[in-house]
Amino acid sequence: MEKKLEELKKQILKELETAKDSQFLADLKVKYLGRKGELTNILKEVKNLAKEEKPKVGKLANEVKQELTDIFTKTERIIKQTKGTKAFDATMPGTKKKQGSLHPLTQVQYEVEEAFTKLGFSVYDGPQLESDFYNFTSLNIPEDHPARDTQDTFWLENNHLLRTHTSNLQVRMLEKHGVPFRGIFPGRVFRYEATDASHDHTFHQLEGLMVDKDINIGNLIAVMKALLSAVFQTDVDVRLRPGFFPFVEPGFELDIKCLVCEGKGCSVCKQSGWVELMPCGMVHPEVLKFGGIDPNEYSGFAFGLGLTRLVMMKYRIDDIRLLQSGDLRFLKQF
Ligand code: DAH
Repeated sequence: MEKKLEELKKQILKELETAKDSQFLADLKVKYLGRKGELTNILKEVKNLAKEEKPKVGKLANEVKQELTDIFTKTERIIKQTKGTKAFDATMPGTKKKQGSLHPLTQVQYEVEEAFTKLGFSVYDGPQLESDFYNFTSLNIPEDHPARDTQDTFWLENNHLLRTHTSNLQVRMLEKHGVPFRGIFPGRVFRYEATDASHDHTFHQLEGLMVDKDINIGNLIAVMKALLSAVFQTDVDVRLRPGFFPFVEPGFELDIKCLVCEGKGCSVCKQSGWVELMPCGMVHPEVLKFGGIDPNEYSGFAFGLGLTRLVMMKYRIDDIRLLQSGDLRFLKQF
């Protein structure tokens, strides 16, 4: 009888391994431990055993019953926890949790940061809520200067505003870190304007500033080229035009051939085939002075990369509003 018990136990354990749902488990329990179950029948036979065998076998039979009851309970719990799916199997390959992804703007920002870090630039952040002084005056744009009109501005009370460009950090950084200085400042900027496929009230720029002794336009062009080849991983057609910004002299507009339409003309490049990507120039002596730097000793260049535009070029996005839309169908593509 002892042998019978051991064999029955083995068989029950084997069948238990295949238990996938509560119903199957319940049926199994009735089959073996129920009133007319196989184990119960064996237990009933104990009373017919010889006197000397009874205690030993009886004890074993009860132990087996208790053990199996416990195992049934445990298996039931596991099945419930895994909601009727398979019990946890440590030998199965892991499943990858669905994670979110970085916004395309963040991805490109990180790429540009990496390219500049290699050139010895540091990455800085600064306030989005800014004073009139840092956003305009310190950049050689005094009150009543017409250049202010080119940047539609969200004014707050007390002469503060939402920064219209990342250039607001130029003088802040010179004041704080002095020279020599090499830094980039990526961030969100704001303009009070009507939105369309290529304009939004909120977008991203990445400002760069390098000030040291003997910095010239050659340095500026070399850095711009290194940046563009790092971002696009390919040669991009560029052109330099003279451009006016009160805080640089001379000032330039660096354009790249539109990658959305390959120069044929589309809504992104306003049918011109070229996209203004990066205004830049040599830092104006007045700006250096505002930063406490002697323009006779030091010179530098600055650029204002349109990060949002760069992202649109890189991923051929033809509507700027998608970037801020929070539309998962758009975001999941990156
Ligand atoms: N801050 C200017 C804008 O948003 C862009 C700019 C132009 C930045 C020339 C620069 C620069 O650093 O040198 O319109």
